[in-house]
Amino acid sequence: MDFMELVKKRRSIRKYKPDPVPKKDIEYILEAARQAPSWTNRQCWRYIIVSDEATRKKITTREWTAEAPIIIVGCGDPTKAGNKDEKPYYMLDMGISMEHLILAAAEKGLGTCWIGGQFDEKVVREALGVPESHRVVALTPLGYPDESPAAKDRKSMAEMVTWEKW
Ligand SMILES: Cc1cc2nc3c(=O)[nH]c(=O)nc-3n(C[C@H](O)[C@H](O)[C@H](O)COP(=O)(O)O)c2cc1C
Repeated sequence: MDFMELVKKRRSIRKYKPDPVPKKDIEYILEAARQAPSWTNRQCWRYIIVSDEATRKKITTREWTAEAPIIIVGCGDPTKAGNKDEKPYYMLDMGISMEHLILAAAEKGLGTCWIGGQFDEKVVREALGVPESHRVVALTPLGYPDESPAAKDRKSMAEMVTWEKW
């Protein structure tokens, strides 16, 4: 599958089969996350792989998220990235790394869904023992899709791009 095909194949998946994900595939997608670029290569990230069902249920506010056999929780250390002109780059570093992970999962036929809003950071922190040094940035369920959602609309090229000036 070429890169553009992969990018277009990926979808946010909100219904999962209970089938387990092979550990070698989890390691493969984590390697993709590990290879991401970051602010002065500081690699602010830390990932927690959660398979325990009770913990999965505890750390999200949506039942479907916990139905996937794995939840990957992405944490970032804000002191390990720049904060320039009130732009906290640890969020960007985490975004790049997690998107590497998500695309690698799609390549393996695995579903994911960025979860930024549907968790309570305090609850996740307590359940997983995340230290105060790190923020819980996002999480994603990981498992085999049990739905095939249609592609969602995107802005046109003309809405997204101008050449030379705004
Ligand atoms: C940073 C970020 C946070 C998101 N948070 C959530 C979320 O909390 N819950 C959810 O169901 N989807 C969430 N999404 C998924 C988006 O809704 C989804 O990417 C968008 O609707 C486009 O659909 P697609 O991913 O299938 O192309 C999030 C996506 C991003 C990039």
